[in-house]
Amino acid sequence: MTQPVPLPVQAACPVSPIDPFSDEFLAYPYRFHDQLREIGPVFWLDTYGVFGMARHAEVHAALSDWQTYCSGRGAGIEDFAKVKSWRPPSKLLEVDPPVHTRTRTVMSRILSPAAMRQVRETFTVRAEALADDVVAKGRIDAVKELAEVFPLHVFPDAVGLRPEGRENLLPFGNMVFNSFGPQNAIFKESVANAKPVVQWIYDQCSRDMLRPGGFGSQVWDAFDAGEIDAEEAATLVRSMLTAGLDTTVNGIANAIYAFAQHPDQWRAMRDDPSLIRQSFDEVLRWESPVQTFFRTTTRDVEVEGTTIPEGHKVLLFLGAANRDHRKFPEPERFDIRRRPIGHVAFGNGIHTCVGQLVARLEVELILTALLKRVDTITMTAEPVRKLNNTLRSIGSLPIEFKALAH
Ligand code: HEM
Repeated sequence: MTQPVPLPVQAACPVSPIDPFSDEFLAYPYRFHDQLREIGPVFWLDTYGVFGMARHAEVHAALSDWQTYCSGRGAGIEDFAKVKSWRPPSKLLEVDPPVHTRTRTVMSRILSPAAMRQVRETFTVRAEALADDVVAKGRIDAVKELAEVFPLHVFPDAVGLRPEGRENLLPFGNMVFNSFGPQNAIFKESVANAKPVVQWIYDQCSRDMLRPGGFGSQVWDAFDAGEIDAEEAATLVRSMLTAGLDTTVNGIANAIYAFAQHPDQWRAMRDDPSLIRQSFDEVLRWESPVQTFFRTTTRDVEVEGTTIPEGHKVLLFLGAANRDHRKFPEPERFDIRRRPIGHVAFGNGIHTCVGQLVARLEVELILTALLKRVDTITMTAEPVRKLNNTLRSIGSLPIEFKALAH
């Protein structure tokens, strides 16, 4: 056991011994979230010597204020000002303006509404075919046979990756999302075979590996136009591969899990398919795929009477903020009519998820295809959690689809 880290003298706030990266916490975070939200607007996690915020108001405000809560010192527990990261930092997630403004402009353009209109038809054909397949099977593992299959089928093609080696994508995402937390057993296991996986990913980011016209090669077009440098271009392609798969896999798995637990909500959506899009926001609020991100303070900042000194890590509990009763009444209730405006499942402020249109499109198309075919979704066994330091992740979700009578 390591010694608890004492609270910095100038900060007066509650201290919690809760370990947000322990197996118990990651497997079922919600009772711990309740405790953290209730002990105060800001608290000190003495296992790691970091501050934390779990209420919606403070999390939302910190995400909006990049000048005070910067990302340039890492969005994970490591402070890049003090330690060298195991991989070159992302030139989007882990930088502040002005670099961020430049890279973000390029990425937003590539993942724009117009780009989604271009891929929509191809994605739709694949969603419909996959829905035919899984509904014909009836009993499936909704993670292995649906949630992992769809994004892995459509997104790497849209980026323009070669077919060989795509089995490296999910292990890479898993290790990167683990690496935002401490170097615990979960992290160590995920990086046990890191070398060939990381090498494959890095190789795919160079221009000659990417199909012309895809999202990846459009990043290199921005390099040609002088908007970004070569290092930025390579890490932007890498960002797509890091952030674009595990997140949506869990988004889809969490949606199926939510509807399997709430048959009335599936029926409500069948009665009114116009609810499909907003239902995904409720899934994201209720079971947020990305649970936490860190920031680092750039100055002494006062929050509700506590001074957080400059140069400290602050853990923002997005998943807890999304279940704060101060913002969302009866937060445990999954209700697709809720319209959970202001949820922070995609973050907030300048780093708000730049790939959210891709995620929204994938989930909309999968739910639409299933809704046309599926009467009920029943869980046939308890889901098996896959523990990850950042993601709310399911390893296996055995379900049965009962097809609609035609
Ligand atoms: C359900 C799916 C997804 C969820 C829940 C999600 C969540 C998030 C969150 C919370 C952030 C904010 C990070 C921060 O503030 O530090 C973020 C940023 C980001 N996301 Fe997503 N994401 C999803 C899908 C995607 C997809 C499909 C892509 C790629 C196409 C993607 C690419 C990115 C990138 C590159 C950033 C960094 C943006 C920046 O720093 O400006 N995400 N995402």
